[in-house]
Amino acid sequence: MEENMNVPNHIAIILDGNGRWAKAKGMPRSYGHVKGCANLETICDHMKDLGVKYLTVYAFSTENWKRSREEVEGLMKLFRNYLKKCIKIAEKNRMRVKVIGDITAFDQDIQDRIRELENFSKDYTELHFQIALNYGSRDEILRGVRRLAQDAADKKIDPAQIDEGLFESYLDTAEIPDPDLMIRTSGELRLSNFLLWQMAYTEFYFTDVAWPDFDKAELIKAIEKYNKRDRRYGGVKEE
Ligand code: IPE
Ligand code: IPE
Ligand code: MG
Repeated sequence: MEENMNVPNHIAIILDGNGRWAKAKGMPRSYGHVKGCANLETICDHMKDLGVKYLTVYAFSTENWKRSREEVEGLMKLFRNYLKKCIKIAEKNRMRVKVIGDITAFDQDIQDRIRELENFSKDYTELHFQIALNYGSRDEILRGVRRLAQDAADKKIDPAQIDEGLFESYLDTAEIPDPDLMIRTSGELRLSNFLLWQMAYTEFYFTDVAWPDFDKAELIKAIEKYNKRDRRYGGVKEE
């Protein structure tokens, strides 16, 4: 690791490639999800070690319900276990956990576990960990716009006062700074409906490494690459 490495404040990750990783080993997709889930446990430790303050991971999209019933059920089982384990991980890392996405689509016990985890970890500030579950950026924006329109109809806000800051306060990511670096594993070069509004100026890093193999060395590689980027935000570079 380079000395004085500038660590991004917020890293967002699209955890992709579990299925293909398993298939390449002659194993069922579910095996890939189990390994991917185990990797999610350790990635938080690495983020904390490196001094990253915000981590957001895309674990289940609004489109992922289209998968086979067997695969979706397997994922729900994994979420149940993981959400329970995550209480201990939150305590160890002193991390605050939030779930973004429309959780009302999940079984009641999963929703309860999410609320329990969020509530348990709400005062930790060492690492802010967001898990995107039944998350889709278009869905998030529409849910926010619906509440915003209702508040305008109820005269709680004046449409003329709607600016970026006010709009953002209606998103699931309210109070979370925008990602500085987005990592997508396993070779696909797309956003798949992840944080469309929030990533307007985020740097993107794509790797062919599948999520279950994405370790601390790979994470450092991504951060080092990010360090070589010239972020401009529409301005010009000062010589
Ligand atoms: C990512 O791995 C995990 C989820 C989307 C739940 P995939 O399941 O998308 O794995 P591939 O992309 O099919 O290999
Ligand atoms: C994006 O991955 C969603 C998650 C990683 C949770 P997908 O594997 O579902 O995305 P597509 O279908 O390849 O675009
Ligand atoms: Mg995929």
